[in-house]
Amino acid sequence: MTILSIDTSADETSAAVVDGNIILSNVIWSQASLHAKWGGIFPSLAKRLHGERIDWVIKKAIHDSRLTINEIDAVAVTVGPGLAIALEVGIAKAKELALKWNRPLIPVNHLEGHIISALALQKFRRSRIPLRGTKLQIQDINFPALGLVVSGKNTELIAIEKIGQYKILARTMDDALGEALDKAARMLGLGYPGGAVLEKLAREGNPSAYKLTLPLLGRENQGKFSYSGLKTAFYRLTNGKSFTKQEICDLAASFQSTAFEHLIRIVRASLRGRLGDRGNLTITDLLVGGGVAANVELRKRLRKLGRKSGLKVHFPYTKKLCTDNAAMVGLAGQLAFARGEVKRTKKEIESIDRIPGLDFSS
Ligand code: KG4
Repeated sequence: MTILSIDTSADETSAAVVDGNIILSNVIWSQASLHAKWGGIFPSLAKRLHGERIDWVIKKAIHDSRLTINEIDAVAVTVGPGLAIALEVGIAKAKELALKWNRPLIPVNHLEGHIISALALQKFRRSRIPLRGTKLQIQDINFPALGLVVSGKNTELIAIEKIGQYKILARTMDDALGEALDKAARMLGLGYPGGAVLEKLAREGNPSAYKLTLPLLGRENQGKFSYSGLKTAFYRLTNGKSFTKQEICDLAASFQSTAFEHLIRIVRASLRGRLGDRGNLTITDLLVGGGVAANVELRKRLRKLGRKSGLKVHFPYTKKLCTDNAAMVGLAGQLAFARGEVKRTKKEIESIDRIPGLDFSS
């Protein structure tokens, strides 16, 4: 099935065309540089920029897919989680198109998109033949599986009983992992969003140069991540001081390493069956998504954990699929459609509303 998908949940205006597991186009217009001076997303600016750009990204996504509007079977849109006034721009546009083109509209959970992005197939990516009518295949994954979302707003470890049936095993008590990396980067004067810059500097640094206490040490089986204590410790370490280039690399490496070690420990604890009622089940697959899943060091550590635990770790095949994008919404839309989560009549379509706090338990 061919879906035109839209995501305006944060500071990326994005549209894509997806057929089964195949991404035919994925257009992302990032606003990040325009929010940089506020050190985070400035909501009313995000709303205005989405409004200005949405028609262009949709037009380009259809053009890049080499399909025509007639060949689009359905429209999908992120309804949450995200910034309320940003979400509503994408939802209004998706409603308008679904009604104009007489197509069903699929409301999508952005977090399910992050998880499913690990299942996109690369091999068709450069195909010149626009395949149509393909169903999204869930191949080579055994259930229950684990899902890990590490983004700028969410850090959630979930048990995937089967696709569409999720149970939260661990979530952050305070900051998300990406948010913590962004804040650490900011303390080092590296701008916003800083996760990728921090990663680059960390490669040149010594992760043991500065001793930072691991969050929730000894309490890994409580189903919680926490990054605020680490952030405060880093603030104390860096505030009001100036550092050499090498020291900045060492600080970046030390912070990143501690933040990742905490994450790995929680995932490991859940694998050991200490969390919830997953104890007696063998888990063989882990799907990882979200902006921080682009990080090479994190991938290395999760793969190492996988090798030690008999776990296949699946990541999106490209960084573009890690950070917010509409293609993952199209992939999740295929699943939601198969589950019957689809609005067809005018009344049903118009009833779709944003759900800013949506998560896996909703
Ligand atoms: O998924 P995403 O677009 O998130 C939300 O909007 O929630 O991810 C954005 C986050 C930011 O915190 C950004 O710093 C982080 O992902 N990020 C990275 C990398 N690339 C993006 N963090 C670490 N290493 C990277 N290479």
